[in-house]
Amino acid sequence: MKQKIVVLTGAGISAESGLATFRDANGLWEGHDVMEVASPEGWRKNPKLVLDFYNLRRKSALDVEPNAAHKALVDLEQKYDVQIITQNVDDLHERAGSSNILHLHGKLFESRSTKDENLVYPMTGWELNLGDLCEKGSQLRPNIVWFGEAVPLIEKAAEETMHADYLLIIGTSLQVYPAAGLISYAPHDTPIYLIDPNTPPISHRRNFTIIQEKATVGVPKLVKKLLGE
Ligand code: APR
Repeated sequence: MKQKIVVLTGAGISAESGLATFRDANGLWEGHDVMEVASPEGWRKNPKLVLDFYNLRRKSALDVEPNAAHKALVDLEQKYDVQIITQNVDDLHERAGSSNILHLHGKLFESRSTKDENLVYPMTGWELNLGDLCEKGSQLRPNIVWFGEAVPLIEKAAEETMHADYLLIIGTSLQVYPAAGLISYAPHDTPIYLIDPNTPPISHRRNFTIIQEKATVGVPKLVKKLLGE
């Protein structure tokens, strides 16, 4: 039976692929009021602004590639049962080849009916515009979890984390709940490794190792160690 590694990733793992993070200087929220482009109120007030914001993010996501950190997590699967739990909406973990990926905050390349949230459609291009309708005739929206909306996969993510033999936290400021709260579901004796170039909130848990590196440096190093190389 392979040991289980749960990996919680945030925008920082995609930074070196060229995708902006949210809270770093000139990050995604620079020049944008979060609530205008990533909340149900913003959608009600100005759906075109919201659609344009995500069209731009889809366009840039099409132009970038997975980096060494995404790829190192695939190598881990040689020896471990790896469950990726990502806050990211890009598809870089998929394109790197990870097998088990759970998107807590939705997927950039999916649209969803505004009449029936179970109607979800894959997108290949980058544009989703006013007038693009679901099969029931209602406007399509990004299949993204906006601020103030429920995070349907959080229970599954907590369940996975409860069974982690190792927990890796990569490239997240741990400022957004309930994602940030997953750390508390890890068993007390589960080693936790946090990879981030900036000094993240220090945890007072045992078995907590901080690797103050960029993802493309820290993740391959840690993976080599975990693979016993
Ligand atoms: N390698 C690793 N980590 C990095 C790198 C890098 N090259 N560059 C930046 N980071 C770190 C930053 O230090 C920061 O801790 O990545 C983290 C990015 O934090 P945020 O921008 O807050 O992104 P994230 O934690 O994913 O945000 C969570 O908030 O806005 C919402 O829904 C959105 O999913 C997002 C959620």
